[in-house]
Amino acid sequence: MKDLKAIIFDLDGVIVDTAKYHFIAWRKLANDLGFDFDEHDNEKLKGVSRVESLNLILKMGNVSKTEEEKTMLAAHKNDHYQSLIAGMNESEILPGALELLKEIKNTDIYCVLGSASKNARRILEYVGLFDYFDEIVDGTNVSKAKPDPEVFTVGADALGIDYDSVVVIEDSLAGIQAANTAGMFSIGIGDEMILNAADWVIPSLENIHLSDIQSRFFNKNLEDN
Ligand code: BG6
Ligand code: MG
Repeated sequence: MKDLKAIIFDLDGVIVDTAKYHFIAWRKLANDLGFDFDEHDNEKLKGVSRVESLNLILKMGNVSKTEEEKTMLAAHKNDHYQSLIAGMNESEILPGALELLKEIKNTDIYCVLGSASKNARRILEYVGLFDYFDEIVDGTNVSKAKPDPEVFTVGADALGIDYDSVVVIEDSLAGIQAANTAGMFSIGIGDEMILNAADWVIPSLENIHLSDIQSRFFNKNLEDN
């Protein structure tokens, strides 16, 4: 029987709701280029890297740009995004996240971040959660985007633990697919219709205790063995 050794958290959409800031910054960029995009379109950008997000947005507006122009546009968007997130504080931690991080801190289970964002470390600082993590893997450490499992396997490898002793908490389908590919237990935060590939789907972390996660993890292991 496998022990649960680590819980890997995605950041955006699991610990904090930064999608709204990404949306404001991407929308401004789109508007400056002469088209609009709405919150429904913004859903498609969840868990998607900065460069890929830009490509999707340009496609939505039917706009083509050279690689050099794209680099400039992505940097411009990021400057705007960084000015928006600079005002973040602990009040923006999503319900249940802090309570769960505190519970994990009192055990010998590792707490890991697995985020596509290159701004992950600064966001953790702003909301006062940096010290809860034993290992941080973000967009600066990996070359392959979710659904490639790299962002999760790098963290597990750094800790020297088996992938099947890890739980991943994610809000994007790409992230759930990444966890499943690595053989990790996947928890989806959000809509069951969208995240049905996850081992367990919950609407949020509110009222979710470590013991709930442990029993789901052990039951899955029992079924598999
Ligand atoms: C992911 C977000 O966590 O990070 C995406 O869900 C975002 O929307 C991606 O594009 C990259 O973020 P950043 O901060 O490096 O631009
Ligand atoms: Mg996310």
